[in-house]
Amino acid sequence: MMSSWVSSALAGSILLAVIALPSYASEEGDSVLAPAGADLFGQYCASCHGVSGEGNGPAASALNVPPADLTRIAARRGGDFPDSEIARFIDGRFDLPAHGSREMPIWGRRLGASIAKGTEPDEVARGRILSLVEYLKTIQRK
Ligand code: HEC
Repeated sequence: MMSSWVSSALAGSILLAVIALPSYASEEGDSVLAPAGADLFGQYCASCHGVSGEGNGPAASALNVPPADLTRIAARRGGDFPDSEIARFIDGRFDLPAHGSREMPIWGRRLGASIAKGTEPDEVARGRILSLVEYLKTIQRK
Protein backbone atom coordinates (compact mmCIF):
# COMPACT_ATOMS: atom_id res chain seq x y z
CA MET A 1 0.00 0.00 0.00
CA MET A 2 2.62 2.46 1.05
CA SER A 3 5.04 1.54 -1.71
CA SER A 4 2.53 2.18 -4.46
CA TRP A 5 1.71 5.45 -2.84
CA VAL A 6 5.30 6.52 -2.46
CA SER A 7 6.15 5.52 -5.98
CA SER A 8 3.34 7.64 -7.34
CA ALA A 9 3.83 10.78 -9.34
CA LEU A 10 4.83 12.89 -6.37
CA ALA A 11 7.48 10.53 -5.04
CA GLY A 12 10.43 12.30 -3.54
CA SER A 13 8.45 15.22 -2.24
CA ILE A 14 9.15 15.99 1.38
CA LEU A 15 5.46 16.44 1.90
CA LEU A 16 4.70 12.84 1.05
CA ALA A 17 7.61 11.54 3.05
CA VAL A 18 6.36 13.23 6.19
CA ILE A 19 2.72 12.21 5.82
CA ALA A 20 3.85 8.63 5.29
CA LEU A 21 3.60 6.16 8.14
CA PRO A 22 5.66 7.41 11.07
CA SER A 23 7.80 4.83 12.80
CA TYR A 24 5.85 5.21 16.05
CA ALA A 25 2.44 4.63 14.50
CA SER A 26 0.59 1.68 15.96
CA GLU A 27 -2.37 -0.35 14.83
CA GLU A 28 -4.47 0.91 17.74
CA GLY A 29 -3.76 4.59 17.26
CA ASP A 30 -0.93 6.53 18.85
CA SER A 31 -1.81 7.39 22.47
CA VAL A 32 -0.51 10.95 22.24
CA LEU A 33 -1.72 11.89 18.77
CA ALA A 34 -5.13 10.19 18.89
CA PRO A 35 -6.61 12.45 21.60
CA ALA A 36 -5.50 15.52 19.65
CA GLY A 37 -7.11 13.99 16.60
CA ALA A 38 -10.33 13.42 18.53
CA ASP A 39 -10.57 17.15 19.26
CA LEU A 40 -9.93 18.02 15.63
CA PHE A 41 -12.52 15.47 14.57
CA GLY A 42 -15.20 17.07 16.71
CA GLN A 43 -14.30 20.47 15.34
CA TYR A 44 -13.95 19.74 11.63
CA CYS A 45 -15.36 16.34 10.76
CA ALA A 46 -18.37 15.55 12.92
CA SER A 47 -20.68 17.90 10.99
CA CYS A 48 -20.68 15.41 8.12
CA HIS A 49 -19.34 12.15 9.54
CA GLY A 50 -21.20 12.39 12.85
CA VAL A 51 -19.83 12.57 16.38
CA SER A 52 -19.30 8.80 16.35
CA GLY A 53 -17.85 8.83 12.83
CA GLU A 54 -20.57 6.66 11.35
CA GLY A 55 -21.50 9.12 8.63
CA ASN A 56 -24.65 10.57 10.15
CA GLY A 57 -23.68 14.15 10.93
CA PRO A 58 -26.17 17.03 10.65
CA ALA A 59 -24.71 18.23 7.33
CA ALA A 60 -24.77 14.76 5.74
CA SER A 61 -28.19 15.06 4.12
CA ALA A 62 -27.13 18.15 2.16
CA LEU A 63 -24.41 16.22 0.31
CA ASN A 64 -24.67 14.42 -3.01
CA VAL A 65 -22.33 11.68 -1.81
CA PRO A 66 -23.02 10.30 1.67
CA PRO A 67 -20.12 10.80 4.11
CA ALA A 68 -18.27 7.54 4.64
CA ASP A 69 -18.71 5.51 7.83
CA LEU A 70 -15.28 6.14 9.31
CA THR A 71 -15.64 3.35 11.87
CA ARG A 72 -15.40 0.87 9.00
CA ILE A 73 -12.34 2.10 7.12
CA ALA A 74 -10.47 -1.09 8.00
CA ALA A 75 -13.51 -3.35 7.67
CA ARG A 76 -14.00 -2.12 4.09
CA ARG A 77 -10.40 -3.09 3.35
CA GLY A 78 -10.30 -6.60 4.75
CA GLY A 79 -9.19 -5.46 8.21
CA ASP A 80 -6.25 -3.39 6.98
CA PHE A 81 -6.02 0.28 7.98
CA PRO A 82 -3.89 1.98 5.31
CA ASP A 83 -2.40 5.00 7.11
CA SER A 84 -0.85 6.58 4.07
CA GLU A 85 -3.88 6.22 1.84
CA ILE A 86 -6.15 7.69 4.50
CA ALA A 87 -3.79 10.58 5.28
CA ARG A 88 -3.55 11.32 1.61
CA PHE A 89 -7.30 11.21 1.13
CA ILE A 90 -7.97 13.53 4.06
CA ASP A 91 -5.33 15.95 2.80
CA GLY A 92 -6.92 15.97 -0.63
CA ARG A 93 -4.30 18.07 -2.35
CA PHE A 94 -2.83 15.18 -4.29
CA ASP A 95 -5.76 13.35 -5.82
CA LEU A 96 -8.49 14.25 -8.17
CA PRO A 97 -11.49 12.12 -7.30
CA ALA A 98 -12.37 9.42 -9.80
CA HIS A 99 -15.99 10.50 -9.89
CA GLY A 100 -15.97 14.21 -10.55
CA SER A 101 -16.10 16.69 -7.73
CA ARG A 102 -15.05 15.74 -4.24
CA GLU A 103 -17.53 16.41 -1.45
CA MET A 104 -14.87 16.39 1.25
CA PRO A 105 -13.12 19.70 1.83
CA ILE A 106 -9.42 19.81 0.91
CA TRP A 107 -8.21 19.50 4.50
CA GLY A 108 -4.58 19.88 3.55
CA ARG A 109 -5.41 23.52 2.83
CA ARG A 110 -8.01 24.18 5.51
CA LEU A 111 -6.01 22.73 8.38
CA GLY A 112 -2.88 24.52 7.30
CA ALA A 113 -3.27 27.77 9.20
CA SER A 114 -0.14 29.01 10.89
CA ILE A 115 -0.71 28.44 14.61
CA ALA A 116 2.20 30.42 15.96
CA LYS A 117 5.08 32.55 14.81
CA GLY A 118 7.61 30.38 13.07
CA THR A 119 5.24 27.52 12.24
CA GLU A 120 4.81 26.53 8.62
CA PRO A 121 1.18 26.09 7.59
CA ASP A 122 2.08 22.93 5.76
CA GLU A 123 3.74 21.35 8.78
CA VAL A 124 0.70 22.22 10.85
CA ALA A 125 -1.62 20.61 8.32
CA ARG A 126 0.49 17.45 8.20
CA GLY A 127 0.60 17.17 11.98
CA ARG A 128 -3.14 17.60 12.24
CA ILE A 129 -3.85 15.05 9.55
CA LEU A 130 -1.54 12.58 11.25
CA SER A 131 -3.43 13.09 14.52
CA LEU A 132 -6.73 12.55 12.73
CA VAL A 133 -5.47 9.31 11.20
CA GLU A 134 -4.32 8.06 14.60
CA TYR A 135 -7.72 8.95 16.05
CA LEU A 136 -9.58 7.17 13.26
CA LYS A 137 -7.67 3.98 14.10
CA THR A 138 -9.13 4.07 17.60
CA ILE A 139 -12.73 4.03 16.33
CA GLN A 140 -12.42 1.08 13.91
CA ARG A 141 -14.93 -1.74 14.30
CA LYS A 142 -14.17 -5.34 13.50
C1 HEC B 1 -18.65 18.51 4.05
C2 HEC B 1 -18.78 17.17 4.59
C3 HEC B 1 -17.52 16.46 5.09
C4 HEC B 1 -16.68 16.89 6.09
C5 HEC B 1 -16.77 18.16 6.92
C6 HEC B 1 -15.67 15.85 6.21
N1 HEC B 1 -15.91 14.84 5.33
FE1 HEC B 1 -14.85 13.10 5.14
N2 HEC B 1 -16.04 12.51 3.61
C7 HEC B 1 -17.13 13.20 3.15
C8 HEC B 1 -17.72 12.47 2.04
C9 HEC B 1 -18.94 12.90 1.27
C10 HEC B 1 -16.94 11.31 1.87
C11 HEC B 1 -17.15 10.20 0.81
C12 HEC B 1 -16.08 10.30 -0.25
C13 HEC B 1 -16.20 11.49 -1.18
O1 HEC B 1 -15.74 12.61 -0.87
O2 HEC B 1 -16.77 11.35 -2.24
C14 HEC B 1 -15.89 11.36 2.87
C15 HEC B 1 -14.91 10.40 3.02
C16 HEC B 1 -13.93 10.41 3.99
C17 HEC B 1 -12.89 9.40 4.14
C18 HEC B 1 -12.68 8.17 3.25
C19 HEC B 1 -13.08 6.91 3.96
C20 HEC B 1 -12.64 5.67 3.23
O3 HEC B 1 -12.89 4.57 3.73
O4 HEC B 1 -12.03 5.78 2.16
C21 HEC B 1 -12.12 9.78 5.21
C22 HEC B 1 -10.93 9.06 5.77
C23 HEC B 1 -12.68 11.01 5.71
N3 HEC B 1 -13.77 11.37 4.96
C24 HEC B 1 -12.18 11.70 6.78
C25 HEC B 1 -12.60 12.97 7.18
C26 HEC B 1 -11.96 13.76 8.22
C27 HEC B 1 -10.76 13.30 9.04
C28 HEC B 1 -12.63 14.94 8.29
C29 HEC B 1 -12.32 16.15 9.17
C30 HEC B 1 -11.00 16.72 9.04
C31 HEC B 1 -13.71 14.89 7.31
N4 HEC B 1 -13.66 13.69 6.67
C32 HEC B 1 -14.63 15.90 7.12
C33 HEC B 1 -17.62 14.40 3.63
C34 HEC B 1 -17.03 15.17 4.62
